[in-house]
Amino acid sequence: MTAPTLSVTRIAGALGAEVSGVDLGDLDDTTFAQIHAAWLEHQVLFFRDQDLSPERHKAFGRRFGPLQIHPFLHSRKDEGHPEIVILESDADRPAVAAGWHTDVTFVESPPMGSILRAVEAPPFGGDTMWSSMVAVYESLSDTMQRLLSGLVAIHDTARTFSRSAYPAEKHPDRDAMPSVEHPVVRTHPETGRKALFVNPAFTSRIKGMRRRESETLLGFLYGLTGTPEFTCRFHWQKNSIALWDNRCTQHRAVADNLAAHRRMERVTIEGDRPR
Ligand code: SIN
Repeated sequence: MTAPTLSVTRIAGALGAEVSGVDLGDLDDTTFAQIHAAWLEHQVLFFRDQDLSPERHKAFGRRFGPLQIHPFLHSRKDEGHPEIVILESDADRPAVAAGWHTDVTFVESPPMGSILRAVEAPPFGGDTMWSSMVAVYESLSDTMQRLLSGLVAIHDTARTFSRSAYPAEKHPDRDAMPSVEHPVVRTHPETGRKALFVNPAFTSRIKGMRRRESETLLGFLYGLTGTPEFTCRFHWQKNSIALWDNRCTQHRAVADNLAAHRRMERVTIEGDRPR
């Protein structure tokens, strides 16, 4: 049997490609292998018109590995889908995830990737941006790369999922979540490429540096994240899907249409310990 024709079109220079000619709800092994290879190459893939049920959304995620249950974010657990996180905003509910981040780096083994589906998309605005941490790393001088490669950063929940906003009574897992250490530069376990692995949502400081030194260095690195040449941007329609590699990217929602109803659902795939 011949494999279906899948077409992969790059949308930006550093990362991102749109894939067409595929039904994510009904994937054979050959097509999955093509998607997997394209994902490693482009870091984030986009698909249109994928009307996936929660079961199929999860089944697509499980092709990559076990799914994570998020310790803090609201999910569809009451419907039997604790693996599906809901990110919803409108005039009364502020935009979620509107700052650069890499998902869940406050655990020892942060997710490998995430699959986000637009259930309700705004008529304009509400895009999502991604930035390639490979491109950021590769833009640095050899001297800076060497300095960063010897450093370790502390990641925790203090900035984004604080104890006051997400108390232990409601989130019993939180006390089992001390701060964790990750290398500032990680080597991708599948591609072997090096990527910067710090983010403003969950990295609190660089180990062994004075506070001012750590803040200055992290501030410099975060300033590079939004450089247009390192990013791509996706405009959502209902049933669009983004699949990103969390080991080498950051992403953020663009909060530019606050009145519109926007509902996204995400599954998150477990990953390994950064090295
Ligand atoms: C996320 O951070 O997973 C969601 C990003 C978005 O809603 O655009």
